[in-house]
Amino acid sequence: MIYMKKILWTLLLLAFSLSAFSQSYFEDGLTSEWHRGRRDELRKLMPANSVAVFFNNPVKNRTNDVDYIYHPNTDFFYLTGFREPNAVLIVFSEERQINGEMSEELIFVQNRDARAEMWNGKRLGVEGMMSELGFEDALLNSEFAAKSGINLQDFDKILTFSLSEAIEESSTNLPLIQMVDEFKNATAYPDKLNEVSAQVYKMIESSDLETSDRVVQMLKRYSSQYPDMMQDPLVSSFMNADSPEKRMMVKEEIPEQKLDISSLGDMMGILREVKTAEEIVMLKKAVRISAVGQVEVMKAAKVGMTEREIQGVHEFIYKRYGAEELGYPSIVGGGNNGCILHYIENDKRDLTDRLLLMDLGAEWRGYTADVTRTIPISGEFNAEEKAIYELVYQAQEAGIALSKPGTTFQDIDAAGRKIIDDGLAKLGIIKKGEGHMYFPHGTSHHIGLDVHDRGTYDVLKEGVVFTIEPGIYIPEGSDCDPKWWGIAVRIEDDILVTKDGNINLSGDAPRTIAAIEEMMRHPSVLEEWVLPEID
Ligand code: GLY
Ligand code: MN
Ligand code: MN
Repeated sequence: MIYMKKILWTLLLLAFSLSAFSQSYFEDGLTSEWHRGRRDELRKLMPANSVAVFFNNPVKNRTNDVDYIYHPNTDFFYLTGFREPNAVLIVFSEERQINGEMSEELIFVQNRDARAEMWNGKRLGVEGMMSELGFEDALLNSEFAAKSGINLQDFDKILTFSLSEAIEESSTNLPLIQMVDEFKNATAYPDKLNEVSAQVYKMIESSDLETSDRVVQMLKRYSSQYPDMMQDPLVSSFMNADSPEKRMMVKEEIPEQKLDISSLGDMMGILREVKTAEEIVMLKKAVRISAVGQVEVMKAAKVGMTEREIQGVHEFIYKRYGAEELGYPSIVGGGNNGCILHYIENDKRDLTDRLLLMDLGAEWRGYTADVTRTIPISGEFNAEEKAIYELVYQAQEAGIALSKPGTTFQDIDAAGRKIIDDGLAKLGIIKKGEGHMYFPHGTSHHIGLDVHDRGTYDVLKEGVVFTIEPGIYIPEGSDCDPKWWGIAVRIEDDILVTKDGNINLSGDAPRTIAAIEEMMRHPSVLEEWVLPEID
């Protein structure tokens, strides 16, 4: 074994000296020009003389020598296309001189390391950042910040994200930990700074005589969720002040902060909310692959199969098309398991003739789909399942019909919720006007690099891609006729908002009762795939 390692080592060194590594990323993913363009767009949103600092995600240990598969921070990926840990991106609002060179951004990355690369795969290194990802300046992470000639205190604003979460201590994460420590020292990062209080300060700062009352009402709603917030003397004085004038006096006491951990999220939300044509190509692919998964499972699903087996069929199809990842853990819930909104155990065996709720999404070049179908394992819905399914379907149709620029997320949610509330009352599951927990989640979210993607969540705009996913879940033991128990239905589609309407990107997967039952009558290629029995 040691001998083998020696040979490999020699071969590897030889390979190193013979040829440089070529870029390992996907040829059909976003281009380095695209990522560079996004950095230019960010610069336009940044205040004058500011700097934005992005740390890529740490590596997370799964157990002992095994780490979780690395996933870059999605803001970091959006701006760079880079997929390696121990990296920091610094974007300046204006070009400035760093060590005698004019520069508008810097990226700090881990070094090339033949031994590490033999075990864990290629690294781009400083050279690769320039040749493959189009950066004009790249430095080793050991040169971070002051060593590179940057003085963060020269800027009027330092924009970053909350660094309160501890980074898992490991030799792998050491360069990142050192960079975070140096950043915290250089910016006098306070011990107690957290995202909630930063957001609250920002809300107070942006209030005026007319709006301060609304801000107080909003803070009151937050206060039960974040009780610590009220411990902050400035926040409590603002909330307890008995006139708008007094509130403005409290507002003046908020210290001017150079370090800003709440604005960068808003800026990234503005950028990431509306997808460019290139991103829509990625999303369409992710969604269409996920829809094919649903179609194939409709053909393959049979009484007696297991949730895990069904999960495997979806995920095999994603891989067959070359999707690199799942956007989130697959949810495959038979019968009552469908009532657990993010059910990921998927360990029920012998699926009986109940409904099966399947919420899965392929990740294609970083972009994730989020598609749900609910099907009857037997191939046919019974009367109660039909009644519930039809309500969810009508709620979703109402949302889709409203989807065009200018519509709010609330409009879509309200339209579907009314159909579901009225319908449940008509079926006798609730009393008219009664509150209930049978539709306990929101109807929509953006999708993109994250399954719950960044966005402003104000109104729909051309180029937005979002989900419409009403659902009804009636767990065993609910306060209604037992004939409804264990019925769980969610229908989730990924909708692209166009200039004057929308396109359902996941529309290839049947949604109506008739279309699902028809698809389920088709044979599956899996029937011919017989594996040997194993005891
Ligand atoms: N798959 C998670 C969600 O639908 O939001
Ligand atoms: Mn969703
Ligand atoms: Mn989903």
